[in-house]
Amino acid sequence: MSFEKETNYQRCRVRIEALCDGNDDQISKMASVVGVLHNEMNNFFWTGFYRVVEGRLVIGPYQGTVGCLRIEIGQGVCGTAVAMGETQVVENVDDFPGHIACDERSQSEIVVPVTNESGELIAVLDVDSVEKGAFDDVDRKYLEEILAHVLGGR
Ligand code: SME
Repeated sequence: MSFEKETNYQRCRVRIEALCDGNDDQISKMASVVGVLHNEMNNFFWTGFYRVVEGRLVIGPYQGTVGCLRIEIGQGVCGTAVAMGETQVVENVDDFPGHIACDERSQSEIVVPVTNESGELIAVLDVDSVEKGAFDDVDRKYLEEILAHVLGGR
């Protein structure tokens, strides 16, 4: 299972880098990241970015059911990831105080902060699953690496 997940991430990374390397538009790169991950990974029910705009999170490129438009820093899993500056892995959204339920079918999620080449926090990637406990350190490792390479220039 974990082996299959790693293989899927490695295939996604190759496709995402082929699409994004040499492209300097952050929003089109976000759209490409979402387009590949959402369609290639198992259990990705909602996959999308919230961008930091004027001190709050605003919906960016995503795939899945309709997401909420804005999230305040410090609110929900996404706002917490920004406030703490680190990836949040939530095994059961019911156990996360203040979780924002855009679609009540979401059961677990991972939210990864995204920094640009200057090290500024510009967005988060939010992935939700309809299964509990869908995300772990394998997801954290690959998503952090892909985002650092594609959007952080590392
Ligand atoms: N899960 C998020 C809200 C956004 S949606 O699920 C698309 C949160 O609590 O931050």
